[in-house]
Amino acid sequence: MENKVIYITGATKGIGFGVAELLLKSGYKVAFSGRNEADVNKVALELSRISMDVLGVVSDVRDYEKEELAVKTILEKFGRLDVVIANAGMGIFKPVDEISLEEWNQMIATNLTGAFHTMKASVEALKASQGYYISISSLAGTNFFENGAAYNASKFGVVGFSQAAMLDLRKYGISVCTIMPGSVSSHFAGNDPAQKDHWKIQPEDLGELIHGILKMNRRALPSKIEIRPSRPDLK
Ligand SMILES: NC(=O)c1ccc[n+]([C@@H]2O[C@H](COP(=O)([O-])OP(=O)(O)OC[C@H]3O[C@@H](n4cnc5c(N)ncnc54)[C@H](OP(=O)(O)O)[C@@H]3O)[C@@H](O)[C@H]2O)c1
Repeated sequence: MENKVIYITGATKGIGFGVAELLLKSGYKVAFSGRNEADVNKVALELSRISMDVLGVVSDVRDYEKEELAVKTILEKFGRLDVVIANAGMGIFKPVDEISLEEWNQMIATNLTGAFHTMKASVEALKASQGYYISISSLAGTNFFENGAAYNASKFGVVGFSQAAMLDLRKYGISVCTIMPGSVSSHFAGNDPAQKDHWKIQPEDLGELIHGILKMNRRALPSKIEIRPSRPDLK
């Protein structure tokens, strides 16, 4: 793993942060993003206690030019980019007749268009490294539910986007995978992670999953992965 460089979008907290921690401990060089400069600097300092091979970049995945600049900054610092994890996301849950235009647009811009922006900004670097692009979709990308219209639309979109991109890019040696987690203990949708979340998937579990994927022989491609809490009855 020594020289492999990973970029995780939206890693100032939650899943992205847990994945960054685990991958740094596993020997990767890790770049991560968030929208707020103070948060990015604070997290970069915290992660540098694990390894100095960490870089925080300020970017909003809704803004293509910022994603382009983020990737340029990563390439300047580390010289290569091997794995991109399109994780940044948000959730607003309301009945379809109550979702505002702004809420709909924010959700699609962040969760779906953001994943495309991250791909578009990094695809040439991934061609050069024969790398991996991993999107974090959700079980909400295959199961629809009440109050989920906008979130379901964004996450079904991420699954479709990632699977089609997988077919487009494998001939360049790029592996595209989408991970579809069930409930994860994080700050998602205003949650405050605590003991009550003990039954959920923990962010480091997703780090372990990604570390496992990256260790696999590249002749095999786990292109779509569902992962869920094994004991939701313990909630
Ligand atoms: N938690 C779950 O149960 C669950 C289940 C399935 C899938 N997911 C998916 O997992 C991903 C991560 O969510 P999470 O649970 O870790 O939530 P979280 O704890 O709220 O963390 C979200 C992260 O995304 C960043 N972010 C949000 N909007 C962004 C933007 N426009 N540009 C860049 N970064 C942005 C946030 O940083 P800043 O606010 O500092 O920018 C934060 O670091 C999301 O795509 C979510 O849909 C979550």
